[in-house]
Amino acid sequence: MNQIAIVPKPVMLETTGGDFTITAKTKILVENDSSDAAGAGKYLAGMFYRGTGLNLPVGRLTGGISTRDAIVLTTKGADARLGSEGYRLNVTDDSISIVAQEGAGLFYGVQTLLQLLPPQVFSQDHTNKRISWTVPCVQIEDKPRFRWRGLHIDPARHFQKKEDVLRFIDTMVLHKFNVLHFHLTDDQGWRIEIKQYPKLTEVGAWRKEDGFGLDPKALSFFDEKGRYGGFYTQKDIQEIVAYAAARYITVVPEIEMPGHALAALAAFPELSCTVGPFEVACGGGIFKDVYCAGNDQVFEFLDNVLAEVIELFPSKYIHVGGDECPKDRWKNCPKCRQRIKDEGLKDEHELQSWFISRIERFLNSKGKTIIGWDEILEGGLAPNAAVMSWRGMSGGIAAAKAGHDVVMTPTSHCYLDYYQAKGNEPKAIGGFLPIETVYSLEPVPEELTEDQKKHILGVQGNLWSEYIPNLSHLEYMAYPRACALSEVAWTPAEKRDWNDFESRLIHHLTRLSERGVNYRPLSVGEK
Ligand code: ACM
Ligand code: ZN
Repeated sequence: MNQIAIVPKPVMLETTGGDFTITAKTKILVENDSSDAAGAGKYLAGMFYRGTGLNLPVGRLTGGISTRDAIVLTTKGADARLGSEGYRLNVTDDSISIVAQEGAGLFYGVQTLLQLLPPQVFSQDHTNKRISWTVPCVQIEDKPRFRWRGLHIDPARHFQKKEDVLRFIDTMVLHKFNVLHFHLTDDQGWRIEIKQYPKLTEVGAWRKEDGFGLDPKALSFFDEKGRYGGFYTQKDIQEIVAYAAARYITVVPEIEMPGHALAALAAFPELSCTVGPFEVACGGGIFKDVYCAGNDQVFEFLDNVLAEVIELFPSKYIHVGGDECPKDRWKNCPKCRQRIKDEGLKDEHELQSWFISRIERFLNSKGKTIIGWDEILEGGLAPNAAVMSWRGMSGGIAAAKAGHDVVMTPTSHCYLDYYQAKGNEPKAIGGFLPIETVYSLEPVPEELTEDQKKHILGVQGNLWSEYIPNLSHLEYMAYPRACALSEVAWTPAEKRDWNDFESRLIHHLTRLSERGVNYRPLSVGEK
């Protein structure tokens, strides 16, 4: 019998004895008037066909949920207590049913069902015809602990082409992640086409060379002039957003400001305090040239950029960066000094806060909420902003105490760009973050009151890409640590147990192997 090893672990799972075998005669039956059920049914049929070669018909449900030799997907009779992402999965010896209030729950039920099948169901070809597609009889009741279950990718440092982003999403889906934080702009590259400012990508999307000293064989994105870079057209972005949405993943775009903006300033040096000239950064660091906070043109520019961004991303949240903005230029800039005076601000930290609040007003007026790195707390938090706590948990604690929403992504547990083992690992940015540490994260600080705890939206793993030049290496850094993070994000704290997780993970990794995910194999005794 196939081992039961679901990652992330469901809230409640009972085996009831016996099993059900999916054969060419099994039908997928979906509730008549539910496009969510139809979508989940089609997705299941597609996944099942790819892995097994069996083409299960998707039909309409006319009988009850225990129709013989059928996999039934329906919202009828769903348990409201399981919420919009929860589901109930029942496998008996003659039927399978997934019942959920909404599409997301049906979709997660399908993910769990796939994990109850032999791992070859995740294969990329359908040459597994001799395998018996048997599922153990179980009753599962499940829902996520957190509503923000995120991974972050950074195509600014090393571009990842659209097809690779889609593949990355495919693997997120297995782990019930629901947010892809898309870091689209930085010193080393501007990666999103903005129609009003074509120079942003003509100039800002390319740098003279890689600049991070990576193996040239790992790099593929050069233009005809030999420049290194790349960008997403708006059509690419629409495709990524739609692909993600069909899999219940929200893409949250990040447009960095006021710092980490050299790629934009290379295209538009007049938006800086010194007016440049600048080059797109080759290599890492924190650069002193940032958007001028005293120049009204900067806000006109950013409003126009954000107006196009908003059209492309249905996400409620727009990430505006805010981290690592040196104040050197602002201190010496007459326009910035004037702004501080005119607005009655105390210092450059309040000027940064004023900058973010100014952008927040624009985004709020368009129905969007801003989220930023925890530096946006310095000099006063914008009134409606959410905070991504990365320099430990303290920023998140302060924000939650002040009544703001928080995503926990502390370097100590969530920086998946750090080394995952000692010894002969490929070059990484530094740090040391083994999988056990990721798994041990408790995102809700004890010191918060019950009301304040409700502000912790969830957790996110970050894959800064200074040393991640391609999808294969992105997968190596992400997995299996993201498997551990998915359980932090999904599973109730009291159900989490490292030893139990590790034994499920060993089995789960055979699924990732079938999919061709380049995860880092577990090794023993390396702690
Ligand atoms: C960050 O890692 N600079 C947010
Ligand atoms: Zn200035």
